[in-house]
Amino acid sequence: MIYDRRPENMARIAAPEQAQAFIDEQVAALRAQIGDRKVLLALSGGVDSSVVAALLIRAVGRQLVCVHVNHGLLRKGEPEQVIRVFRDQMDANLIYVDAADRFLDKLAGVTDPERKRKIIGGEFIEVFAEEARKLDGIEFLAQGTIWPDVLESEKGIKAHHNAGGLPDDLQFKLVEPVKILFKDEVRAVGRQLGLPDGMVDRQPFPGPGLGVRCPGAITRDRLEAVRESDAILREEFAKAGLEGKVWQYFTVVPDFKSTGIRDGQRSFDWPVIIRAVNTTDAMSAAVEEIPFPLMHRLVERITREVPGVNRVLYDFTPKPSATIEFE
Ligand code: XMP
Repeated sequence: MIYDRRPENMARIAAPEQAQAFIDEQVAALRAQIGDRKVLLALSGGVDSSVVAALLIRAVGRQLVCVHVNHGLLRKGEPEQVIRVFRDQMDANLIYVDAADRFLDKLAGVTDPERKRKIIGGEFIEVFAEEARKLDGIEFLAQGTIWPDVLESEKGIKAHHNAGGLPDDLQFKLVEPVKILFKDEVRAVGRQLGLPDGMVDRQPFPGPGLGVRCPGAITRDRLEAVRESDAILREEFAKAGLEGKVWQYFTVVPDFKSTGIRDGQRSFDWPVIIRAVNTTDAMSAAVEEIPFPLMHRLVERITREVPGVNRVLYDFTPKPSATIEFE
């Protein structure tokens, strides 16, 4: 059965048996809907698109064509994980597009946050459309729409990012197998489908990726400093048992330098700003009081291991007055 709306009396999916019942029902429904035709999916590696991919692979195998666009603004290890999990472990029909140069060239010298977002979003659709045009016989487009997306677009809170964005020559029928689920239910289904914990429990990550954590004009070296410091932060939070406990944490490398000392010599390098917040709905957020020993360890590792960085700062500002992201 394909639902357009969440049934009023539907129980919240939490236990593995409930997740399995949903999977069995959806796999049958997807097979009936798709038959022997082909489905296209933009697979970012985020929770929603990953669960949709895993469900469709279970239902129609290689009739699903996944396109993973690496826009050069992903976190360390993310594209590799997508390839490992989907191509190597699930035998997915996966097209990997390394578009990093293309995005970074377009973004060169662009300082305005809204223009940066527009360029990233527009370029993403263009790259995805180019890949779609190379393929024959695609009838369906799968999307990781979830129930809060439907509710929010109905209330006019946010425009829902659906197929509306694709050019006119690319019109597909939509397949939205997790449309009636809440986020925690999507995670339960993903776990039951065998996706790794690191993928299912991922913290929220904005569409424009690390681009909004590299304020002002993005340069490759500063972007690399964001990526490396973020990887260290995630590693140290995991070691400290904070993974899954703190809602969102990341680093930002602002576009200014300050004086420091390295190996007895004057240095003139960037700071890394650490942000760690807790929230339930992302409308407001409180700063996590991270332990000082952890902070010392982060300062020590980031200043030693990340090229071009000589200072580490902690952002103590709740939302409001600050937003969670810097741009
Ligand atoms: P802000 O910065 O508005 O962020 O306090 C609230 C939450 O939304 C995430 N965020 C985004 N997610 N596309 C997304 O998919 C975006 O453009 C975007 N901007 C912010 C942010 O990471 C935080 O969890």
